[in-house]
Amino acid sequence: MVHRMRDVAGAVALVTGGGNGIGAAMVKLLRDKGAKVCAVDIDEEAAQRSGADLAIGADVADREAMAAAVDRTVAEFGKLDLVFAIAGITHPPATLRVLKPGEAQRVIDVNLTGTLNTVQPAIEPLIATRGHIVVVSSMGWPANTDYGILLPAVGGVAYSTSKTAVEMLGRGLRMELAQYGVGVTIGYFGPIDTAMVHLTPNPATKAKWKLIISPEKAAAGLLRATERGKVRVIIPARWNFLNAIRPLGVHMDNLLLRSKKQRAFVRSYDSD
Ligand SMILES: NC(=O)c1ccc[n+]([C@@H]2O[C@H](COP(=O)([O-])OP(=O)(O)OC[C@H]3O[C@@H](n4cnc5c(N)ncnc54)[C@H](O)[C@@H]3O)[C@@H](O)[C@H]2O)c1
Repeated sequence: MVHRMRDVAGAVALVTGGGNGIGAAMVKLLRDKGAKVCAVDIDEEAAQRSGADLAIGADVADREAMAAAVDRTVAEFGKLDLVFAIAGITHPPATLRVLKPGEAQRVIDVNLTGTLNTVQPAIEPLIATRGHIVVVSSMGWPANTDYGILLPAVGGVAYSTSKTAVEMLGRGLRMELAQYGVGVTIGYFGPIDTAMVHLTPNPATKAKWKLIISPEKAAAGLLRATERGKVRVIIPARWNFLNAIRPLGVHMDNLLLRSKKQRAFVRSYDSD
């Protein structure tokens, strides 16, 4: 079943992570298309710089702050049509063994609980407009180094775990909200040229720098898919073929365990 969005022009949108990177590009794009936009970001100044109609400094991990942000958006603009849960973080590559207490937890709190905190308070306003929810997962490559959801990402286990869970959150929401005419799109990004991607440099991903795309292109791809009511979109599309390896599951993990390169990665992320 495809949920078709009405026109973005005249819509009211809330974008988390709207201060930088893909979120900031989305704020600009939505405004250029005639939407009213509320940007929520833990970095309030960055949210203000985004040029959003309403900028709110809030931590997506803070449930009450997110409920207040949704309420304020509806109070200010009279409705809510679109929610883009884009805010996300990771930590520099490190195994769970060497991470400090709380570092992995924070990634889960922002990426997973933060997405839940963003979308749940928005459900009733979105039902009222037959609106649309967009959540952000991840597509990683090369397989054993980046933080996607295709494989257990060494050095980024909390990230890949959170993004796998976000995918299921989106799928579940879609099932529950279809009866109300509310649609859900799940975006899976490959490497995008933002601050986040520069936090995870490593020698084997040199190829990635050639394949990286701009946050503007990423936002445009995500909005196009949203307008078309697509349930999922892999951006850029060149990574679509990677989906083929997903059903291999632990068999793929077993192959990786035999790889010398993989073992070298684990070792490099396993020392403080
Ligand atoms: N850049 C990539 O290669 C890539 C790949 C796959 C998925 N993603 C996902 O895309 C999304 C956007 O990432 P980006 O690359 O634009 O990153 P970014 O670091 O450029 O921007 C993230 C924004 O989120 C904000 N933010 C961080 N923690 C927050 C919190 N607790 N509450 C509110 N705002 C918070 C930051 O201040 C920043 O403005 C993330 O969910 C990320 O996981 C990115």
